[in-house]
Amino acid sequence: MSVMRTQVAIIGAGPAGLLLGQLLHRAGIDAVILEQRTPEYVLGRIRAGVLEQGTVDVMELAGVSSRLHAESLTHGGVEIAANDVRRRIAFQDLIGRTVTVYGQTEMTRDLMDARQASGATTIYEAADVALHDIDHDHPRVTWRKDGVTHSLDCDFIAGCDGFHGISRASVPERALTLFDRHYPFGWLGILVEKPPVSEELIYAHHERGFALCSMRSLTRSRYYVQVPEGEKVDNWSDARFWDELRARINPEAAARLQTGPSIEKSIAPLRSFVAEPLRFGSLFLAGDAAHIVPPTGAKGLNLAISDVAMLGAALAEFYGERSKAGLDAYSKKALARIWKAERFSWWMTSLLHTFPETGAFGRRIQRADFDYLCGSIAAQTSLAENYTGLSLD
Ligand code: FAD
Ligand code: DHB
Repeated sequence: MSVMRTQVAIIGAGPAGLLLGQLLHRAGIDAVILEQRTPEYVLGRIRAGVLEQGTVDVMELAGVSSRLHAESLTHGGVEIAANDVRRRIAFQDLIGRTVTVYGQTEMTRDLMDARQASGATTIYEAADVALHDIDHDHPRVTWRKDGVTHSLDCDFIAGCDGFHGISRASVPERALTLFDRHYPFGWLGILVEKPPVSEELIYAHHERGFALCSMRSLTRSRYYVQVPEGEKVDNWSDARFWDELRARINPEAAARLQTGPSIEKSIAPLRSFVAEPLRFGSLFLAGDAAHIVPPTGAKGLNLAISDVAMLGAALAEFYGERSKAGLDAYSKKALARIWKAERFSWWMTSLLHTFPETGAFGRRIQRADFDYLCGSIAAQTSLAENYTGLSLD
């Protein structure tokens, strides 16, 4: 068995783990990242696309924002549509804030490149990662690679290994409280090399189900439609997807839509989930390892980044000033923001999707909620504050 030592062991090389690694590297803290997949696999997962200003700020702080600034798009509003009514939520006019459109894969690539340039250690294809002694001051991580078992001694473990990771599962059941909400549908997403249908995102409610028109650049578009739980991608030819999307968005947009062969197509289930607290002994949970939001409010990636910004600062305080105050406060501080994002994501999901179970009363309440949004500057301001991340801080 080979034995190594580091200050912080980071489990998972998704955006949370990679960004934490970069923040720690800049603070002069040694960290090793363990990832069960290959870099190509991690980069092949098409996920989020909308960054809050706070996320862009952290990327700047981490010294990985030059391509983001050169290639991203800045949006000052989104369109929300229900049946035939359309409303632009002009967050730049309402609250002076914008959001940045830049794919999670691009952000991950920038972080991978920075990590490689820094010479810091990332171990990909680490099998059977296991956490030991997390209730002690000197925990340990073991894994297998190429038939050899390795062991890493450390001061802390950052569990950044997503919803299905090993970190949260390593905490004794009695030490965690789990909050879970299930939605009876998923999002079928498609990526296509065609210009987006509109300059800004369109979130559309329709009696056939929710649809979202998004983008990755001025030549690459990302579209989603709500599908029933358990639906299979194989049931959706490109032609069927485009017909369904056109049926759910307004007729002018449908007429403008440029379609083409999909370069990626996948279904993501929707759920709300929080594990409390985010710390157990020497283990700190961050990102999807600790919480999931339904994607409607574009919050999942942004929450993961805000967690690691807090955790990175707390670890820098510990190693710089030998103060445990930041680490002790991490769980409570991060959870305050997480629950605000959970509320907003749940609300926006409830407003825009069709729910098979809610019946006529539920549909009328949804319509009343949408009419209230259209008629109230206060409601639009609230949506803008939440969507851009202002009210989460
Ligand atoms: P992840 O990106 O999940 O990264 C965790 C990493 O840990 C992975 O690379 C994984 O391979 C690794 N790992 C897991 N287990 C182990 C282990 N045992 N040992 C070592 N490594 C391990 N958010 C939005 O805002 N908008 C969206 O449209 C959107 N779409 C999504 C679609 C899908 C299918 C999913 C799953 C999520 C989506 N999200 C979306 C959420 C967003 O992508 C996540 O919030 C974000 O990826 C969280 O980053 P993370 O680094 O915490 O976790
Ligand atoms: C995208 C995903 C979202 O969940 C969202 O709310 C907005 C955009 C996207 O993939 O582009």
